[in-house]
This record gives sequence, structure tokens and C-alpha cells, in this order.
Amino acid sequence: MTNNSFTPRVFSGIKPSGGLTLGNYLGAIKRWVDMQSPDTDNIYCAVDLHAITVWQDPKGLKAGTREIAAGMLASGIDPETSILFNQSQVPEHTELAWIFNCVARVGWMNRMTQFKDKAGKNAEKASLGLYAYPSLMAADILLYHATHVPVGEDQKQHVELTRDIANKFNNDFGVEFFPVAEPVIEGPGTRVMNLRDGTKKMSKSGESDMERINMLDDADKIAKKFKKAKTDPEPLPKTLEGLAGRPEAKNLVDIYSGLADMTPEEVIAEYAGAQWGRFKPALADLAVSKLAPISDEMKRLMDDPAEIDRKLAAGADRARSIAAPILDQTYDIVGLLR
Ligand code: AMP
Ligand code: TRP
Repeated sequence: MTNNSFTPRVFSGIKPSGGLTLGNYLGAIKRWVDMQSPDTDNIYCAVDLHAITVWQDPKGLKAGTREIAAGMLASGIDPETSILFNQSQVPEHTELAWIFNCVARVGWMNRMTQFKDKAGKNAEKASLGLYAYPSLMAADILLYHATHVPVGEDQKQHVELTRDIANKFNNDFGVEFFPVAEPVIEGPGTRVMNLRDGTKKMSKSGESDMERINMLDDADKIAKKFKKAKTDPEPLPKTLEGLAGRPEAKNLVDIYSGLADMTPEEVIAEYAGAQWGRFKPALADLAVSKLAPISDEMKRLMDDPAEIDRKLAAGADRARSIAAPILDQTYDIVGLLR
């Protein structure tokens, strides 16, 4: 089956579980901004129901949801051109997720590496929601018949599972109803690594604040974190190949490249042979110049939570107008009386 019969439509989401990081910005939000177009529906969602698969303090969850919304708006998501909302305001997501729980196979879920990483040795004590998480994610995407899903590298397996679910549903019911959505994983920022260990992903929940750049960090913090970022003793290489086997050096070049809208080749050409004492301050200055206007705007927006809530509610109304008929047709295909 091809997606030719489906209108191109973009969907992506971010969990409000802790503040936004540079990884979220380069791997997701910045790319979502670039993909906006008046000719396509771009649907961007704060996936609060995904966040509660691990414990969230209720007040923190509300604040975190508004922070994600503020981060998207401040980065340039236009709530008129795109649809911006939080997942729990559109109950169709969980309704479709139940149908998909009955389509996805336990064997598929058992292969999900994110569940294994998150549940760790205590898988018995993980929530049932954490295990079923990818099925809700498939519902998020397919509820809108989305064809393109811009995400960071870590979400590739979940989008592939979404494709498996769409195919199995279509085969089981003899329909061509759900598109087989494509992951869009492009550019140098799709896997931003931890600043203290270049083999681990930069995440919201890492142990030390020094290992990540938060979108709300001030200029001093950003400079300090890049200054203390782990590197090897070698200067920057003269060619891209020279970054092989140097995860920390590669990460800093990739971050520079993502922030500057340059290719990694161009960054290396500019800094060939440079010592860290030159590259790190340049990277810190670049990061501050790009992130400070966004964090200032985020703070301004977060001072008026009622306005953020209004924007999310308006986005949810628009999302529902697409979602409700698709869920209705799904129920009909499955044989559920309406
Ligand atoms: P999450 O914060 O886990 O909800 O992730 C939201 C989006 O940001 C997803 O598309 C992730 O793939 C992306 N993302 C999160 N962390 C990183 C990272 N370190 N590098 C690149 N993309 C990331
Ligand atoms: N699972 C994604 C993450 O952790 C967040 C997410 C939920 C998502 N639903 C989605 C991303 C749908 C893309 C499309 O990053």
C-alpha cells in the first residue's frame, strides 16, 4: 500500500515531563517550525497522557504542559498555520489507542527498546501504560491520518511500530484506511548527546543538570555547561571523517551545525584544527544568541497561563474536528455500533 491516496499531513508530539532541552529543540521543535506551511496540516501536540506513564506531580504536569506550549510558540510554531494542543483535550486519542491495543501484538511491544530502557530491571513494577505507550503514540499519529512524523532518532522504532499497526489494521479489516506514516529524521540535531558522556542521549531526566542545556537556561549557565562539556584532548579535525570514534567532539560539532543552520562539513571547514579553547566559546555564544530570544519569549508567555490555555483549547477544537470523523469511521470498520 502507498500513501499516494492520502493528503500529506504532519503530526508530532513532546511529553511534558520536565523542561525542554536543546535535544527537544534541535531534534524536534526547530524542525517542526521549518516544516510549517499554509498548504499542509501540521499538528503538534503536548502529549500529557504519555507523560503520566511515569509518575508526574499534578501541579508540575500542568505547568510542564504550559511550558511545552510556550516553548513551541516561542520557537515559532504559529497556532494559526499549525494546530497546537494538548493530547488529553482530545479524548479520541485514547479511544483509538484501545482499538490499537487490540491490533498490536505483545511480541511487538516486547521488542520496544525504550520500554526496556525506561523500565530497566524493575519491569514488573512499571505501569501498564508505559508498556502500552507505543500503541497510544500510533493512535496520536493515525487519528489524523498523518503521513509524516518528524522526530528524533530515538523515536524511529515507535514510528515503525505505528506502520506495523496501520498495516495490520488495514489487512485485518480488508481496508486501505490508515496511511503508513513515514518517520522524518533529518539533519544534524536528530540525536543530541549528553554533554558529560557523548555515548548517551541528552534527556530531560538525566542525573546532572550539567549534562544538558535547558531551553530556560540563562547565558551564564549555557556558557558554563559548554565550557565544562567533556571532550577529548585532540583539536577539531580537518575533515568530517576525523570525528569518527570521537563522540563528544562529534556532538559539539553537530550542535553547532544544528544551531547555525550549517552542515557539519561547513562547521569543520570553518574550525579545522581549532582547539577547544576557541570552539567552545564560539559554540556558547552561538547557543546564547539563538536560545536567549526563545527563552525570553517563553518566560513572557508563561506569565499569562490563561492565554496559553486559551490557545491550547482552540487548537484542541480544531484537532477534534479532524479526529472525530476518523474515529467514527474506525469504529464502523471494526463493527462497533454507533
Ligand atoms: P520527549 O522529550 O522524549 O517527549 O521527546 C520529544 C521529541 O524530542 C522527540 O521527537 C524526540 O525524538 C526528540 N528528542 C528528545 N531528546 C532528543 C535528543 N537528545 N536529541 C534529538 N532529539 C531528541
Ligand atoms: N514518544 C514520543 C517521545 O517520547 C512522544 C510522542 C508521543 C510522539 N506521541 C507522538 C512523537 C506522536 C511523534 C508522534 O518523544
